[in-house]
Amino acid sequence: MPSRIHVIIGSVRPNRICPAVAEWVASIGREILPAAFELIDLRDWPLPMDGEPSIPATGDYRTDLTKAWSEKIASGDAFVFVSPQYNWGYPAVLKNALDHLYREWAGKPAMIVTYGGHGGNKCAAQLHQVLTGLKMKPIETMPGFTLSRTRIEANAGEVDPATEFAEWRPALEQAFAELGRN
Ligand SMILES: Cc1cc2nc3c(=O)[nH]c(=O)nc-3n(C[C@H](O)[C@H](O)[C@H](O)COP(=O)(O)O)c2cc1C
Repeated sequence: MPSRIHVIIGSVRPNRICPAVAEWVASIGREILPAAFELIDLRDWPLPMDGEPSIPATGDYRTDLTKAWSEKIASGDAFVFVSPQYNWGYPAVLKNALDHLYREWAGKPAMIVTYGGHGGNKCAAQLHQVLTGLKMKPIETMPGFTLSRTRIEANAGEVDPATEFAEWRPALEQAFAELGRN
């Protein structure tokens, strides 16, 4: 069972709702699993786009920020990726954060949680493929929350996940139980 679970906040744009969604997801995780949950906000990790000269799998990192990112990710033994769906995929900032490392992700269980106008299943499928390429172990249950048109159009950075995504709470609980079996 993982004891240190890192929850990655996968969007960084102004007016984002991802932190609120990730906080709610982590709060349910804490109810289900006796693990330490840490939220990791990619805004706090402004990694330049593909900024390292070496292939990440070598672990030959040159910048202090990548070295610190490597230590941070190495310290987690399972991951929850919380991501919006952007044009049927996931945000570029998340791909860049993933691509900066390799060994630090490899072999670790991963849970994918998405949201979007149609629940984010296309984003989840892409993320699943990439995490598998990183030799992670994505779990089977991938909760995807439907974000209302009103919320999307308001673009006010506001959401009340416990109410608006309540119907997906059982799927989240199931996913955390699955994560705990890894
Ligand atoms: C670049 C971009 C692309 C988007 N593409 C989609 C999409 O393909 N499907 C969808 O339902 N919503 C889409 N949306 C609306 C998002 O679901 C909505 O803005 C959501 O709040 C984004 O998450 P965030 O606030 O954490 O960035 C898109 C939003 C942005 C900014």
